[in-house]
Amino acid sequence: MNKKSSNKSFHSEREGQIRFFEGLKISTDVELTHNTDGVYKGTLFEFKLTISDINKVLFQAIKYLSHKRIKGEPIPAQILLVALNEENAYLFNSGDFLGDIEEIYAGAASKNNADFNTKIKPDKIDFSNIKGLQHLTEILEIQKYTKIHIDVFDVVGWANHYYTANPKASKSKLFEELRSPKKFKDYIYPWKGKDIDFKYINDLLNDKIRKKELGAFYTPSPYCRKAVELVRRAIKQLPKGHDYIILDRTAGTGNLEEFLTDKRVNDITIDELDRYIDKELKTKYLQNKKDIINTFYSGHLFGDITVGELEKHKTKISIHNYLSDNEISHTIVNTYELKEWIVLNERLGDKVKLIIPPSAHVKEANPLVNGGDALSDHFILGSKVGRMFISKDYL
Ligand SMILES: C[S@@+](CC[C@H](N)C(=O)[O-])C[C@H]1O[C@@H](n2cnc3c(N)ncnc32)[C@H](O)[C@@H]1O
Repeated sequence: MNKKSSNKSFHSEREGQIRFFEGLKISTDVELTHNTDGVYKGTLFEFKLTISDINKVLFQAIKYLSHKRIKGEPIPAQILLVALNEENAYLFNSGDFLGDIEEIYAGAASKNNADFNTKIKPDKIDFSNIKGLQHLTEILEIQKYTKIHIDVFDVVGWANHYYTANPKASKSKLFEELRSPKKFKDYIYPWKGKDIDFKYINDLLNDKIRKKELGAFYTPSPYCRKAVELVRRAIKQLPKGHDYIILDRTAGTGNLEEFLTDKRVNDITIDELDRYIDKELKTKYLQNKKDIINTFYSGHLFGDITVGELEKHKTKISIHNYLSDNEISHTIVNTYELKEWIVLNERLGDKVKLIIPPSAHVKEANPLVNGGDALSDHFILGSKVGRMFISKDYL
């Protein structure tokens, strides 16, 4: 076997990704955001420093694509797993995994990935040499997609995509597009169902203006911010080393979860802080870090400075006293209305620990989902039926 002359030794995936794209002369600014692996043309990337178990990383990519389908985003035809320090890349066709992509997974793509196996062998590319780099460049030029099917889980995502691109379109135009795709012809198979199939989620398929008139079940954001502040105080009181869950038994469409952190606190940029804390606290924090910012980060954009960098310089206020890492991944959400479940899954399915009930209990022919009634005996008392919903991975 040919041994490579020198392997790389990146310390973070981010650092390796930047070098990887520089090597291929692709600008990282537009295509990849902070800490996401990202999509470039028809390729989904999954970067790791090293890859010892290809199946595990592939499954992570598949789960990511599964959520893209739910969100109504095109599925890149290629999956490229990149082992940055080993300088190897593994290329798969996402179409070979359509069945897996069209499954519904609860929780972050990076969790619980040990059980996936495939006999399909990837194309392995050694990019430590010019030939490999050229091959990669050719691959990355390809802009193809894998078509997916429309069903109750993804129809709201695709409807939103359609109305965003065609703000004036009506619902009948949407159905026309789903039945014989023109704008979506590379992305979806023609939908063969009847309008009535989606009768219980019909108002979710309305254009945006109509949808705003719904909204009876939304919790207003000042209330959500206050609730999150109180939840955080409780988290801070946990004895060191203890884990926690946040259980929202009547989560509706998930507004109460909107302001929970969905990444490590150190990876949040100063721009992004607005989403997680209120303006007053942010102003106080920035004033407190003013000298640090002026001395070390003058000329930097707030979108490029992370909390982690500011927190290297200790001052009176630490944002870690207010926020915890990935709070939403500790959250279990429940709802009993089909409509709400669909929105909840689209919005938070890839972030929360669990959605109750799981997708297998969601039937489009029923306005309520089976097992989501928070007032039922099995929900409150934890009868056998209730426990059955929680997979062993979470216990
Ligand atoms: C005040 S709203 C909360 C909305 C939620 N925080 C949101 O942002 O959408 C109450 C929610 O409880 C749900 N709900 C009412 N009774 C329920 C029950 N027995 N089991 C589960 N959910 C229920 C309703 O469908 C509604 O979404």
